[in-house]
Amino acid sequence: MYRLAKPLLFRLPPETAHEAITGLLRVAQRTRLERAYAGHYTVDDERLSVEAFDQSFPNPVGVAAGFDKNAEIPRALAALGFGHVEVGAVTAEGQPGNPRPRMFRLREDEGLVNRMGFNNAGADVVGERLAEQRLPDVPVGVNVGKSKSTPLEDAPDDYRYTYEQVAEDGDYFVVNVSSPNTPGLRELQNREQLAAILEALQDAGAAPLLVKLSPDLHRDAVVDAVELANDLGLDGVVATNTTTDRPDALRSPNAAEKGGLSGRPIRERATDQVRFVAERTDLPVVGVGGVFTAADAYEKIRAGASVVQLYTGLVYRGPSIAREINEGLLELLDRDGFASVEDAVGADL
Ligand SMILES: Cc1cc2nc3c(=O)[nH]c(=O)nc-3n(C[C@H](O)[C@H](O)[C@H](O)COP(=O)(O)O)c2cc1C
Repeated sequence: MYRLAKPLLFRLPPETAHEAITGLLRVAQRTRLERAYAGHYTVDDERLSVEAFDQSFPNPVGVAAGFDKNAEIPRALAALGFGHVEVGAVTAEGQPGNPRPRMFRLREDEGLVNRMGFNNAGADVVGERLAEQRLPDVPVGVNVGKSKSTPLEDAPDDYRYTYEQVAEDGDYFVVNVSSPNTPGLRELQNREQLAAILEALQDAGAAPLLVKLSPDLHRDAVVDAVELANDLGLDGVVATNTTTDRPDALRSPNAAEKGGLSGRPIRERATDQVRFVAERTDLPVVGVGGVFTAADAYEKIRAGASVVQLYTGLVYRGPSIAREINEGLLELLDRDGFASVEDAVGADL
């Protein structure tokens, strides 16, 4: 089906295509289609289940932040066979984000560049939406960002406000200090400012609490951030967000657009960061960046990721991506003699 739909969708501007898909999934979520999807896309196998940061994941393939910014379709995404859904980024204030166009396909490279700028309905609205809906059986995390109008020095209160609005219904919480599209945000990854944000959230009772890192952080800064995560007793690290770098090999003209690059071109770099982080902590690592296939997911798991997430792969591969990855993972586990995904986590370290 997606082979037929993709050329049509790809004729639309990327954000329009995203809105069309979200609209369809919203309908699916309201009707019996959700059941039919779940039956078609879910791979039900104990070997795929993972326990990490107090959550039970039925399989290790999740939806990365940014796809469902306003928590409108978590059940529909779970019905596509994903083992968890991270909604958001949510900010304290609702905000429109940057002017359109702000999302670009790099078709030749199977990548995207986006400079969305945390467009979202805001913590009050998303908090209420989470409270009012029936959430899926899989873990639903909330990715928390900083409102554009809030100065960096007031970031801890801004993050805390958002957390308080979603606290009841989120299963885990991710401090996002790694989006390249909010001016100055990534500076918050330095030890002092990051500590202030994380401590404010811990004071408010946020748990499980994870931090999401940029692939552009210097190694020293990654070491600092991981040490801080260890010292504060965080529950995990998400690696990675998008990159502002542009690898030389990119062929698409849209590579020149400003914003964060995702998808195939960042796979290896994201895996390197997963490994670098996993070598320095016993905390669970969530591996994100360029996961399109079972082999890609397996690479991140062997490098130390307990679960993986994807966004760009869903755009290029379509709604059966979670099923394809989960089926493929079972074959790879068999091939290499692992009894389960959990057995393979960190096998390459
Ligand atoms: C359009 C778009 C919006 C995104 N929005 C967010 C966001 O709000 N918060 C966040 O932490 N990451 C966001 N991301 C980053 C993804 O969660 C993910 O870290 C990154 O895209 C790498 O994964 P991928 O290669 O599978 O897309 C966004 C990515 C895209 C493409």
